[in-house]
Amino acid sequence: MIRQLADQGFAVIDAFLPATQLHALQQSAQRILAAQAKPAGIGRGPLRELDSTVRQDHIVWLEVEDQCSAGFLDCMERLRQQLNQQLYLGLFSYEAHFACYQPGAFYRKHLDAFKGERNRRLSTVFYLNAEWQPQAGGELMIYHADGTSVAASVTPLENRLVLFMSEEFPHEVLPATRQRLSIAGWFRGA
Ligand code: OGA
Ligand code: MN
Repeated sequence: MIRQLADQGFAVIDAFLPATQLHALQQSAQRILAAQAKPAGIGRGPLRELDSTVRQDHIVWLEVEDQCSAGFLDCMERLRQQLNQQLYLGLFSYEAHFACYQPGAFYRKHLDAFKGERNRRLSTVFYLNAEWQPQAGGELMIYHADGTSVAASVTPLENRLVLFMSEEFPHEVLPATRQRLSIAGWFRGA
């Protein structure tokens, strides 16, 4: 993972969590999303708005009060320390939300952070989809900085973690034929 990130600015890691932790997290995600999911917005603070022509996922932010969410956040905290030690990324904090894309839902090409605003440094996406078939679609397309040449097409397979530098890689979520669940998160700089 460290080598992939250092060499290409993104990484795809499979079998990220132990099976028991994965299964518990999948159940928590289903339960929490079913009870609390809200349409995701675009932008932050007072300029935040809803725009279903850009993104159609429904989200709930992870809170430590849920034990499975806390376990996932612990893992990401260990990852943060390891990335800082080995790649000097200066990552300071982490936030993440569960996301549910219903069949046909998408998130158009976007950047998670804009250069200069020293906020989101490293994006993470962890997939919760058991028995995902490639024909179902729903790929995360990661583009090079030019915004058109494809750096990676990632199938949202269960227990797969994707990391990419937030300011460098435009990316999009393609529509799928089934419901698509993930945890999207961001490490921030100081
Ligand atoms: C995001 C995002 C990618 C995915 O939430 O900003 O790009 O594969 N998610 O779910
Ligand atoms: Mn994104």
